[in-house]
Amino acid sequence: MMSKRGRLFGLGVGPGDPELMTVKAVRLLGQSPVVAYLAAKGKRGNALTIVEAYLKPEQQTLPLIYPVTTEKLPDHLDYETLVSDFYDQSAAEVATHLDAGRDVAVICEGDPFFYGSFMYIHDRLAQRYETQVVPGVCSVLGAASVLGAPLVYRNQSLGILSGVLPEDELKRRLVDMDAAAIMKLGTNFAKVRRVVTELGLADRALYVERATMGNQKIVPLLEVDPKSAPYFSIVLVPGKKWQS
Ligand SMILES: C[S@@+](CC[C@H](N)C(=O)[O-])C[C@H]1O[C@@H](n2cnc3c(N)ncnc32)[C@H](O)[C@@H]1O
Repeated sequence: MMSKRGRLFGLGVGPGDPELMTVKAVRLLGQSPVVAYLAAKGKRGNALTIVEAYLKPEQQTLPLIYPVTTEKLPDHLDYETLVSDFYDQSAAEVATHLDAGRDVAVICEGDPFFYGSFMYIHDRLAQRYETQVVPGVCSVLGAASVLGAPLVYRNQSLGILSGVLPEDELKRRLVDMDAAAIMKLGTNFAKVRRVVTELGLADRALYVERATMGNQKIVPLLEVDPKSAPYFSIVLVPGKKWQS
């Protein structure tokens, strides 16, 4: 008789503070024999750090380590192919456990469907295995809370921008937004700050590194050293205050 296949859980574990995990994510994490997480080479991975206190010794962890991060690749290597092969391989490793009847929780910093790497595992496996996705508090909202910054009042709209966008494009989009969150800073920080300043938004804009994590840092935007801005940082431009 074939054993029952395991279930795939994509668990949002929130922006950093373990207490910001949902009750449901904690429950499904606790009952999963295998906990998979994505991390950069030589790093622990934020998601693993967040859930650490909830893990039990009998749970197996499955590290899925990115083959590349932002370094320059030799000419014969193509980034897109490397990454796609990596997700194929990661999905296959997860599937081995599912086929053996073990539930696998793939933990994801913030929300799994909001720029989360889990999406690529989901796209490869969700058709074949019973899958459940548990939303998490995303970085934008974690940042707004620690910055004490109400984001959108009344009928204002909020835009989410990637700091990777070219400078002109970033400017073109930001100029029309009532409120915005700009993500993926790191080496893009100087460009993002230039755009925010040129649009006259520097007074309203706020910056935080590793919001809600133990090593969170809030720095006035104009005082940030662009050389030290980490990838896990965000700029918020809250909507104009509405008095009611
Ligand atoms: C690949 S995305 C992951 C987003 C995540 N899934 C979420 O729901 O927020 C990574 C970007 O999210 C932002 N980010 C994630 N966690 C953060 C945190 N705790 N504080 C500040 N920014 C964070 C940063 O802008 C970073 O470059």
